[in-house]
Amino acid sequence: MSASLLLIEDNPGDARLIAALLEDAAAFGLATTLVTVDTLAAGIERLRPGGFELVLLDLGLPESSGLETVQRLRTAVPRLPPLVVLSGLNDEDVAVQALQAGAQDYLVKGRVEPSALARAIRYALGRHQAEQALKNELERSRELATERAARARVEGESESLRRLLDERDQLLRLLAHEVRQPLHNAGAALQSALDAIAGAGTAAPPGVQPPLQHAQQVMAHVIGTLNNALAAALLLTAGGHGVPVDTDLDTLVALVLGDIGPEDRGRVALSIDSGLRTAQLQPTLMRLALCNLLVNALKYSPAPAPVQLRIVDRDDPPALGFEVSDLGSGIDAALLPTVFDRGTRGPDARPGTGAGLGLYIVRQVTDMHRGSIVIEPNLPHGTIVRMWIPQGEG
Ligand SMILES: Nc1ncnc2c1ncn2[C@@H]1O[C@H](COP(=O)(O)OP(=O)(O)OP(=O)(O)O)[C@@H](O)[C@H]1O
Ligand SMILES: [Mg+2]
Repeated sequence: MSASLLLIEDNPGDARLIAALLEDAAAFGLATTLVTVDTLAAGIERLRPGGFELVLLDLGLPESSGLETVQRLRTAVPRLPPLVVLSGLNDEDVAVQALQAGAQDYLVKGRVEPSALARAIRYALGRHQAEQALKNELERSRELATERAARARVEGESESLRRLLDERDQLLRLLAHEVRQPLHNAGAALQSALDAIAGAGTAAPPGVQPPLQHAQQVMAHVIGTLNNALAAALLLTAGGHGVPVDTDLDTLVALVLGDIGPEDRGRVALSIDSGLRTAQLQPTLMRLALCNLLVNALKYSPAPAPVQLRIVDRDDPPALGFEVSDLGSGIDAALLPTVFDRGTRGPDARPGTGAGLGLYIVRQVTDMHRGSIVIEPNLPHGTIVRMWIPQGEG
């Protein structure tokens, strides 16, 4: 075994003695290299950069004596190698206290044999190594415990998030099936009542038709908002809405027009400038998007001004275009940068007639089809919204 030692000893005679003892200790299996300094300050300076494996410290130095010497050294050198203190014959008590202050061992000067010195140093080194290993082990297990606690917290959080999403899914399903469907049925019942009145031949009693028509309008509006809210919530969780499928365009247009209240349907002019009968689309979402564009065009332009739904196609690259135009007052330029954001509503939007979800959904649906959308003014006044949905490969 070999070790590099620092001896802090101000008495030259004692220093020489220790050096001689160490040389003799080689015979007991301990080879050492020794550096000697004679003040605590010099010792501190030598120890700070590291490199020594053990310190032999005389407790009575010019700047400090007794236990204080140990304490000052420990404070000044954070990563102190193992310490063996050297005491005189009369201060053995202090040496014992030094053990409590962190020294590994003590030797009483004048009473040490080379073999005892070798053993003391070897034990000090061994104990220090064992302590170090234990400290590392403790630190590692503390780190592991922290890590485990953090993981448990994250797992707990994602578990409660999953539970929340599950609950939300159930609520959405409840709204979709238990609320939307009955609303549709009630709307259809109202329509039948109005049809029956119209077909009765005789004039309906005064005051019957307007409230029924109003109820129908309110119903259409509630259904529209419910559809948008459900779609917005579902689009957030993404997936599960199916990939685009071959969709019959006439059927899609018929469904969209069917979603528009009967009193407004007459204002919609249809223009199909495309030879395509079918297109690759996600029909439910596209129906919702087109319905929103038409409802906006109708809502933000005065009746009986017409609105137009135009379907076009282009070859290079292949894409299908949906264009909805109106003759309203147009969209304020200041609103345009955020008009596709969730919740954006213009100054012309009447409270209780929407939630600023329409164009947000249109944009999401366009994105899901990897399409593009632009809003342009319809000169001299009005709005054109043009949506391109790529078709064919790529
Ligand atoms: N065709 C249009 N003409 C004029 N303004 C429009 C038109 N379309 C949308 N806007 C403006 O953009 C805003 C956002 O439209 P969006 O469809 O997202 O919400 P909304 O119609 O207010 O409410 P919701 O669609 O939820 O019923 C509207 O409040 C309106 O100010
Ligand atoms: Mg809208």
